[in-house]
Amino acid sequence: MQWEPLYNLAYKKTKQMRWNKMTNKAIRKRVFEAIDINQSYFHAPIIGVPATYLDEEVFYSDAPFLRNAPFISTMISNPNHIGVHTFEDHQMEDIFAGTQALETELIRVMAENMFNGEEKAQDGYVAAGGTEANIQAQWIYRNYFIREKEAKIDEIAMVYSSDSHYSMPKGANVLNLKSIILDVDFDNRQIVQEDMDFKIKEAIANGIKYFIVVANMSTTMFGSVDDVDLISDYFNENKLDYKLHVDGAFGGFIYPFTKENSSYGFHNPNISSITIDAHKMLQAPYGTGIFLCRKGLMEYTRTDEASYVQGLDFTLSGSRSGANAVSVWMIMMVHGPAGLKVRMQNVADKALTLKEDLEEMGIEVFHQDGINIVTIKDKYIKPTIAKKYRLVSDNYSGKANWWKVVVMKHVTQGTLDQFVEDLRLSLS
Ligand SMILES: Cc1ncc(COP(=O)(O)O)c(C=O)c1O
Repeated sequence: MQWEPLYNLAYKKTKQMRWNKMTNKAIRKRVFEAIDINQSYFHAPIIGVPATYLDEEVFYSDAPFLRNAPFISTMISNPNHIGVHTFEDHQMEDIFAGTQALETELIRVMAENMFNGEEKAQDGYVAAGGTEANIQAQWIYRNYFIREKEAKIDEIAMVYSSDSHYSMPKGANVLNLKSIILDVDFDNRQIVQEDMDFKIKEAIANGIKYFIVVANMSTTMFGSVDDVDLISDYFNENKLDYKLHVDGAFGGFIYPFTKENSSYGFHNPNISSITIDAHKMLQAPYGTGIFLCRKGLMEYTRTDEASYVQGLDFTLSGSRSGANAVSVWMIMMVHGPAGLKVRMQNVADKALTLKEDLEEMGIEVFHQDGINIVTIKDKYIKPTIAKKYRLVSDNYSGKANWWKVVVMKHVTQGTLDQFVEDLRLSLS
């Protein structure tokens, strides 16, 4: 079946993110068509794969509501999206071709429309989460330097700020890579340039020749966005051999909507890959981290031994849920870019109001414009307030310096107003 393409590249001309919003009815139709294109464990003589539909006593497929429930229906039919489905020149698993086509469409919408990539110039897949997507990037670049530059493992280092997510040291540990951790300024949370210069020169003197650099399109604790141009300028001006990955696991679904003209995207030639989590701001189910990279890069993590998988495997995941990919596609389509922009601007605006209210009370906070986090210095937060509002601290094993508020979809203006009032009382 040939579907109408939902994406178009009008963004390049109009500077507006574009894909066609769909009605719930149209979405339902497309997902059920995709399920029909997939081969069905209920109807087809599939006897060679170690997989089947979900347990029929718990997930019975004749429940009447399922006719109107495309996501749950996809879950029950249980398509496996093992491998990568954005390659055009590979013979992929055809048993789930219908839902895999929706995943391909999702990756293209994200890479080409949200992140301004060229048409069909990116690959990607729906991973378990931001952690996996970040480690996938590290794995690709480690192998790239080894294969293309004949790098030895101890000549490669990861470079990231001390505010980066712990998936960076986790990945460095798994992949046996060194880490160069850059200091950030205590108040503005930006990488300290002199520290970067000092530590990179020190690493070079110690034999490091290749750098896997991470820029945060919002850190976990502060929502701070690294100055990606400053980072890439440094590596370019010093003629260093590097690959740049963007960790947008937190900010990836908000910053592109609130700051449309940022340097974060595939229009920036310095950026090779991006992580974005749909299970945070997009309200998709857990298991929807998204990995995007320029074409040609997935090749470095091809596992030739995955010979029983049609099209081989290039991902850390192995088997993965087709239903999860469909859920992200559905959310993207039901809102369209304009709907998502309003939604994301709304949470960012609430965070801005909170920041202004707190500053009016003389409370010191960090807030990045366009992001929905406000982080408050520890001296203003009493344990009762932290407990009542489930604030998250930067340090549970030592002394906390900061506490954060994250304005998610369920956080109402009323709750934020109550928080400000309680904080005022606790400090009086
Ligand atoms: C910036 C950042 N990177 C990576 C991750 C890891 O994402 P996940 O928990 O989906 O593996 C997070 C999670 O909070 C994050 O905020």
